[in-house]
Amino acid sequence: MKAFTLRLLPFLLILGTGVPVAAGTPTPNPRQPSQPASREAPRWTIGMSQCNLGEPWRVQMNADIKKASEAHPEINVIFKDAQNDNLRQVAHVEEFARAGVDLIIISPKEAAPLTKPVSAAFKKGIPVIVLDRRVLGGDYTCFIGADNRRIGKAAGAWIAKFLGGKGKVVELKGLMTSTPGQDRNSGFREGIKGSGLEIVFEADMKWLEPNARKEMESALARFPVIDLVYAHNDPGAHGAYLAARAAGREKKIAFVGIDALPHEGQMYVKQGVLAASFEYPTGGKEAIDAALSILGGKQVPKEITLSSRVFTRENIGKGGEWLSN
Ligand code: FRU
Repeated sequence: MKAFTLRLLPFLLILGTGVPVAAGTPTPNPRQPSQPASREAPRWTIGMSQCNLGEPWRVQMNADIKKASEAHPEINVIFKDAQNDNLRQVAHVEEFARAGVDLIIISPKEAAPLTKPVSAAFKKGIPVIVLDRRVLGGDYTCFIGADNRRIGKAAGAWIAKFLGGKGKVVELKGLMTSTPGQDRNSGFREGIKGSGLEIVFEADMKWLEPNARKEMESALARFPVIDLVYAHNDPGAHGAYLAARAAGREKKIAFVGIDALPHEGQMYVKQGVLAASFEYPTGGKEAIDAALSILGGKQVPKEITLSSRVFTRENIGKGGEWLSN
């Protein structure tokens, strides 16, 4: 018992906001504020478990959460970064649950390994918002994210049109044990169905630019003609571009990515590095909105689907174009 308390102590000290955090004692839902709202004393503590902060998109997600939460002095968000390690992320969720936070937001690395701790926290009575990547089953309060299958399908249709219905394509996939990778792949295959596009090379670059660059080097070495690279995120598309540029072939190949952050994908489109980037909103603000509803005792939908735009050279100056349903 003593060791348990000692282990929790640093965590409880970080919380240090006067929030009633009793280990092992779930607060009933809806959460009852223990004291009146004031700038000095947040009523509720939210634990945010981020799978990694290696990509600009995830840094943006945390920034969006921070910004949205700062407008609400009644909440205090504690951020944890699992550094792309499933076991570390499992420990973070368990730690949040043990400390008795009022709500957990998680953007999980992989679906299977994070399912159990999320389910355990949820069953303990802690509301859980799952953001962007999914867990398995339904033991959570609310999922928030854009429809990756729809984005993949729209990317496929856009690419088929862009290439005039035929061409040799490289697909650089996101981590295929994470749900966005699976959906951006299956949606894309659906989108190009019936066209004359040929996938000459495909590889799992696990969302990471250096991996994408390496995989693209292999593709370039094997295929003298490549018309386009479809990468499941913008870091992947950029890694492929760098490999092609090093081989002097970047002008003959078009690059398409997903995320479309203003200072990443949208900027690459403006610079002519990418032919298109499909927006993948972080959902950070929406997660805080949902958290406030849940903590206030209101019902939220089990599934909140965010809309997405495509940015191309033609529409980049006009705010992109919304994907249809
Ligand atoms: C960042 C990221 C984004 C991608 C998202 C999918 O880690 O790879 O680029 O859109 O995760 O979950």
